[in-house]
Amino acid sequence: MNFYRGRRLRKTASLRKTFRETGIDPAKLVQPFFVMDGVDEFFENPINSMPGQFQLGMKSLEKQVSAAVNNGITSIILFGIPEHKDNMASQAYARDGIIQRAVSSLKSVFPDLTVITDVCLCEYMDHGHCGVIKNDQILNDPSLELLGKTALSHARAGADMVSPSDMMDGRVKYIRNILDSEGFSDLPVMSYAVKYASAFYGPFRDAAQSAPSFGDRKTYQMDPANSREAMREAMADFKEGADILMVKPALPYLDIIRDLRRNFSLPIAAYQVSGEYSLIKAGSSLGCIDEKNIVMETITSIKRAGADLILTYFARDIAEWLKKEE
Ligand code: PBG
Repeated sequence: MNFYRGRRLRKTASLRKTFRETGIDPAKLVQPFFVMDGVDEFFENPINSMPGQFQLGMKSLEKQVSAAVNNGITSIILFGIPEHKDNMASQAYARDGIIQRAVSSLKSVFPDLTVITDVCLCEYMDHGHCGVIKNDQILNDPSLELLGKTALSHARAGADMVSPSDMMDGRVKYIRNILDSEGFSDLPVMSYAVKYASAFYGPFRDAAQSAPSFGDRKTYQMDPANSREAMREAMADFKEGADILMVKPALPYLDIIRDLRRNFSLPIAAYQVSGEYSLIKAGSSLGCIDEKNIVMETITSIKRAGADLILTYFARDIAEWLKKEE
């Protein structure tokens, strides 16, 4: 019988391994952490909507980072929860702000770790929006100034990479210019270039206490129905000097990851966000799915679509699972 026998190369575990097209490497995963200001340094508050994730005091953060590093994690991204919020997000760029202190203390303990910072204002604004507000409008250009100050303060604290997630227009260019003129021309910018106004961020807003007090983020984050617009956003950030382009969320937007991969030669990152994480956790606690297999399958899919780098709350678990397999 002469037909295609695809099963020939699936016959043994060894053959399947040999012909596997997509692999997962812990060095290409980024583990997010939430660090909280104004609490005891050993503070650890479980985030109800994200089982297994915590709001952490400084020492607890160090402990969790150390465990992740021991499992092979080489990059982390930090989110801060300040003690005080105001209408100028002043703790976002304070020299002794929570992120600035966390970065410098982590870099002194883990000099080889890539410490990425999320550059945004929503966690630091009393109204929870990602920009400056006047008459209930989110103003673009006045927000740039605060974002620039925030990125610079992270650079000064020793961050290895800054990652603007606010979706204000022109912020990559603004941040690049400030970094260049202040002596940080070597510092990479990973842009949340294509960030959708997604319901999948729900659990994160609990974790970071950053839900907007009125309205929504639809005037700055993208409409989930749009893919050509994604190319315009990515092109703008490419031209403004982004070093890495991110798509967020990940699994519901694999087509967009693929489009970016095909249209740009820059590294592409994808963020498996809080809602993606919490859904898997919930399904697994109900006994409906096998957590490890589902996680590996989703991460493999995101890689296969074209992501070089994946931000995921499962990063340290994945690193641990891979280590056990070695
Ligand atoms: C800050 C920011 C958000 C996320 C990353 N940076 C929240 C938002 O835009 O509402 C979401 C991450 C996640 O859901 O895991 N703007």
